Amino acid sequence: MSESSGPQEAVTGPDGVPISQEEIADIVAPDREIAVSEGEPLVQLDELTVQFGGLTALDHVTFDIKRGEILGLIGPNGAGKTTCFNAMTGVYKPSSGNVTMEGVSLLGKKRHAITRAGIARTFQNIRLFGEMTALENVVVGLDARHRTSVPGAIFRTPRHVREERESIDRGMALLEFVGIADQATSPSRSLPYGYQRRLEIARALATEPKLLCLDEPAAGFNPAEKQELMQLIRQIRDDGYTVLLIEHDMKLVMGVTDRIVVLEFGRKIAEGAPQQIQQDPAVIAAYLGVEEDEDDDGVA
Ligand SMILES: Nc1ncnc2c1ncn2[C@@H]1O[C@H](COP(=O)(O)OP(=O)(O)O)[C@@H](O)[C@H]1O
Ligand SMILES: [Mg+2]
Repeated sequence: MSESSGPQEAVTGPDGVPISQEEIADIVAPDREIAVSEGEPLVQLDELTVQFGGLTALDHVTFDIKRGEILGLIGPNGAGKTTCFNAMTGVYKPSSGNVTMEGVSLLGKKRHAITRAGIARTFQNIRLFGEMTALENVVVGLDARHRTSVPGAIFRTPRHVREERESIDRGMALLEFVGIADQATSPSRSLPYGYQRRLEIARALATEPKLLCLDEPAAGFNPAEKQELMQLIRQIRDDGYTVLLIEHDMKLVMGVTDRIVVLEFGRKIAEGAPQQIQQDPAVIAAYLGVEEDEDDDGVA
């Protein structure tokens, strides 16, 4: 099943010792419990509404994200997909409704608290630290989970040194996982666009999310690159993560998602299995007249 065409050089730890695939899987997510209750709702949106002045960007939207699935969130440009992410991750304050994860409301929590609670995301417009290397960008994500105090870091206590080594190992394993380990020491701004997108995913995975939210990760890709990325997203799910995938291109999500929620003008107009969605008259109507390759408006 692994016909991945990404760079496949052997990964080594900071001490030069090669790391095996099993070790990589272990290092990437040591504490993750895979498929414990697959299919149970992980995140629930309940009548979620977001308004900007007079504009209702999200209008009483209700759906579940089930543990272990890839849920597609699709709809024409301006439908409210990114707004939905932003409301879930504490960027926008919903006007009404609720978002809960494992039964606990996320409303009013700060962004970093939501990251810690287990939701990680990538952005429609790539946001990386351009001057930092690929590895450093991932280690930043890992640091969100570390316990060392600031004095611990300054005086380089044994615990701090150990955590730092673990960070590098895990960072390398994550870069390997997304297929760009050979770029670890390149400044992220010098990476090809497709690699930057993969790096963003590695950085998001570094926080060990229960839910990974990807906002149009294939935007700007050619068809071959899109296929490769879908393969990676499948791998991420097979590794035990739950994925919420925003995608504008309906054909693309059909092959990768388990279920799909469709938004139009801020409202949920359909929800179901890909084959069902594909034949849904309301969905077809929503997409009629929309150019296939319509440029993304880049609203973040
Ligand atoms: N920060 C904002 N301020 C005002 N309007 C916004 C803001 N963010 C999004 N919108 C509007 O909300 C609607 C939904 O946008 P968005 O969620 O970005 O759509 P999508 O991601 O589906 O293309 C659009 O009409 C957009 O212009
Ligand atoms: Mg968007």
